[in-house]
Amino acid sequence: MAARGGFNSRIGFIAAAAGSAVGLGNIWKFPFEVGQGGGAAFVLVYLLLAFALGFPVMVTEIAIGRRTQKNPVGAYEALGFKNWRWLGLMGIIAGVLILSFYNVVAGWAFGYFLEMLRGHFDVGQHFGEFTQDMLRSGGYGLAFMFMTALIVSRGVSGGIERASKILMPALVIMMLGLVAYAFTLPHAMEGIKFYLLPDFSKITVPVIYRALGQAFFSLSLGMGALITYGSYVSKQENIVTSAAIITLADVGIAFLAGLMMFPFVFSQGLEPTGGPGLIFVTLPGIFASLGTGLGIIIGSVFFLLLSFAALTSTVSLLEVPVSYVVDEFKLKRPLAVWLIAGLIFLMSIPAMLANGASEFWSQFITYPGAQSATDYMTFIGHIANDSLLPLGGALIALFAAYIWKKHNLNQELEEGFPNFKGTWAEKFIDLSVSYLAPVVLIIIFILNVLDRFFGIQVF
Ligand code: TRP
Repeated sequence: MAARGGFNSRIGFIAAAAGSAVGLGNIWKFPFEVGQGGGAAFVLVYLLLAFALGFPVMVTEIAIGRRTQKNPVGAYEALGFKNWRWLGLMGIIAGVLILSFYNVVAGWAFGYFLEMLRGHFDVGQHFGEFTQDMLRSGGYGLAFMFMTALIVSRGVSGGIERASKILMPALVIMMLGLVAYAFTLPHAMEGIKFYLLPDFSKITVPVIYRALGQAFFSLSLGMGALITYGSYVSKQENIVTSAAIITLADVGIAFLAGLMMFPFVFSQGLEPTGGPGLIFVTLPGIFASLGTGLGIIIGSVFFLLLSFAALTSTVSLLEVPVSYVVDEFKLKRPLAVWLIAGLIFLMSIPAMLANGASEFWSQFITYPGAQSATDYMTFIGHIANDSLLPLGGALIALFAAYIWKKHNLNQELEEGFPNFKGTWAEKFIDLSVSYLAPVVLIIIFILNVLDRFFGIQVF
């Protein structure tokens, strides 16, 4: 345990795993996905999928990690199933792709912190210029990747654990304040209605697969990030309650982000369908409305905390390929970190160019089913988040239930939870991991690929 580092305390693991889960996915991505997915209907499907499928897959990933004390590739081998290594590799590829665009957005958040600090509240109106400026977005992206690499090179228990414990509660308090402010704004109720009153006719196949992709992305599932983090958890830990806390925290913070964003969006007369720019366009105007002094303080602290939330997520994304290379190829940790971080930074350049700086990357590909050309960054999201993560989740569940076998999973879950057998939690996890997760995830995965990439609508 000591050799690969471990978490120092129970709260340390929960804080780090919640730190991985809570990030841009909650505050940047969730509101714009809700906005594009028709509002409350999307929220409903998302909640259902997160609890029914996300939570059990999370439990499974952490259990595999703790049992094997390995990275996602080595884990299958350690359990005696060498020919499942490809599943770990698929996860690592998904994670690398995700980090290559995630780091770009994290760089924007960090850049916005500096803009707010200088009182540049009009940056929201110039979001397009901001992202197009390759010197700026490249510089911020590089700075962000550098910070991520620095933390990962020092190992999990030091940096990640300490930062998460302080900064996540700070973020929540700040968001609660902003929600309270949002409710006082004109047209706030229209936003709340859009967010919370479902129109069931809006539950379409694309809404379902996007909500699923969002749930897996937000919970950091399907690619082995939590296998890796699970490998640092002690046997005294109750995996089931830990996973429940992480899921609730992650979903709760996303929910709070929506509660804050939609009143803001409607009070400014903006469209909720604004896409990836939504928070970057909306929030500066809100901060400006607080007056210069207060606006600078609240605005800069908010984007600073958002950057930290993103940092604990980029750290978990980088940790996965690094732990793989360190375990399997016996590379020194710092060397592995800098090599992989450098490579992923290079891979992130097309994602930067995709936001208006280059016509080629901005109109990267057209799918048979799509109305217009998709930019490279969105394209990677469609492949990694919405396709590879659910597929990975389905296969992890199938593996645990039928290859590794359920009694082994249960045995691992009983460590730290001696009375697990016979509880409703056991029955629910059993049902979901054996049947619900594999079947539903595979069906949605297939519907997604057919619809999005081939333009074939089954329903
Ligand atoms: N969950 C993080 C967020 O919402 C992103 C993230 C971190 C992630 N690690 C992951 C997504 C692993 C998928 C897989 O911002």
